[in-house]
Amino acid sequence: MAAYQDFNMEHHWLPFTPNRSFKKDPRIFVAADGMHFTTHDGRQVIDGISSLWCVGAGHNRKPINEAIKKQLDTLDYATAFQACNDQAFKAAEMLAAMAPGDLNKVLFCNSGSEAADTSLKVALAYHRARGEGHRNVFIGREKGYHGVGFGGMSVGGIPANRKAYGAALLPRVDHMRFIHDPVNHAYINGVEPVWKEGQEDLLLELENRILPLHDPSNVAAIIVEPVAGSAGWYLPPRGYLKRLREICDRHGILLIFDEVITGFGRMGTNFGADYYGVVPDMLNFAKCVTNGVIPLGGVICSDRIYDGMMNAHASSPDHAIEFFHGYTYSGHPVACAAAIATLNLFKQDKLFERAGQMGQVLGDAMHSGLKGLPNVIGIRSLGLAGAVELSSIAGAPGKRAYDIFMDCFHQGVLVRPAAENIVVCPPYIVEKEHIDRIVNVLADAIRKSA
Ligand SMILES: Cc1ncc(COP(=O)(O)O)c(C=O)c1O
Repeated sequence: MAAYQDFNMEHHWLPFTPNRSFKKDPRIFVAADGMHFTTHDGRQVIDGISSLWCVGAGHNRKPINEAIKKQLDTLDYATAFQACNDQAFKAAEMLAAMAPGDLNKVLFCNSGSEAADTSLKVALAYHRARGEGHRNVFIGREKGYHGVGFGGMSVGGIPANRKAYGAALLPRVDHMRFIHDPVNHAYINGVEPVWKEGQEDLLLELENRILPLHDPSNVAAIIVEPVAGSAGWYLPPRGYLKRLREICDRHGILLIFDEVITGFGRMGTNFGADYYGVVPDMLNFAKCVTNGVIPLGGVICSDRIYDGMMNAHASSPDHAIEFFHGYTYSGHPVACAAAIATLNLFKQDKLFERAGQMGQVLGDAMHSGLKGLPNVIGIRSLGLAGAVELSSIAGAPGKRAYDIFMDCFHQGVLVRPAAENIVVCPPYIVEKEHIDRIVNVLADAIRKSA
């Protein structure tokens, strides 16, 4: 057993973490299996957040581990440029088969951030290839999260992630307003929020102000998460994504769904696109595609986009590259072998269906166990994820959720603070007893923080 004093913590600068306080009370995992971590001091902690939405199938899944080991001994790595490997083709074929509509062409990368930037670059390159290079405006949404690259940050809408980067953000970007109605949609359990008769339509501003301001003919793409994940699991009202699709179609604007969180079963379906019955032009993925075990991300593009890019080069010489973009590790054979094994495991164990079923168990438990507790001002659950929203402490935004998160951790449950929310999104293998424990510990922590 390692005491944390045994680690030299001076050299690792932790991401999205208050480093100074972490070192005073570190949270260090040394092993994981199924639903649980083991900490450096030998405690068991339930993974209530699928390790940041990644570990849908639970930890330490042998079929994935075995596939990785086998791949390492077969083809460890091969360059991705001007050559390829068999695993990348197999993984791409599986992803295309899972994706809705004509989303059939996969560009691999290594993370959700790279997927965001890749999709924005595809949008620009595609329009240019069709002779519409003037389409260079991107539209994101307030509180959207698309990773930490300059493209994803620019279309993202979480202020803390943007505020230090000023003029370095992309210039021609606008943001739609946020989707949440805190009055009418504070408590949502397992259904799509319904916009009330007479309520102001969220997308009118896009149609009547944002698009006319830039002129729709200049807009390259609109990018949204089907459900706003990082902001704290905020749900779009019924019909919102369909209308967004129609608006994009009317103006020749590409629609990008960032499904880094909603992809691969979180909603009980292959993708959020399937849950909402809306097919985007590009679909970004990462995280669960390999059960989080090895970094892999990508963008699934429509045939129309791919064909457009290829046709633009119909008379180019054979050696002409159609899209100057890619990463050294695009389609890494070990990551793709992990993806193939993960997608097979999801299917074999019917884990997406299970996520849908356990989602209702989670939603019911959160609503019955947390509603009415001090400072709770909302609970939203859909798919296998839920968030409880807390009133802010004056002058200390985010402190209440952070304190609750720390308390839960000390009680053996990992949840996620997101601004004033605590988010719960366990692996799809979760059992009711885990859910009950997570909700009970969370309820105690909420009471204590009052
Ligand atoms: C919707 C969305 N897009 C992009 C990202 C960034 O992914 P990564 O951290 O792998 O770069 C995330 C990460 O949480 C995400 O939720």
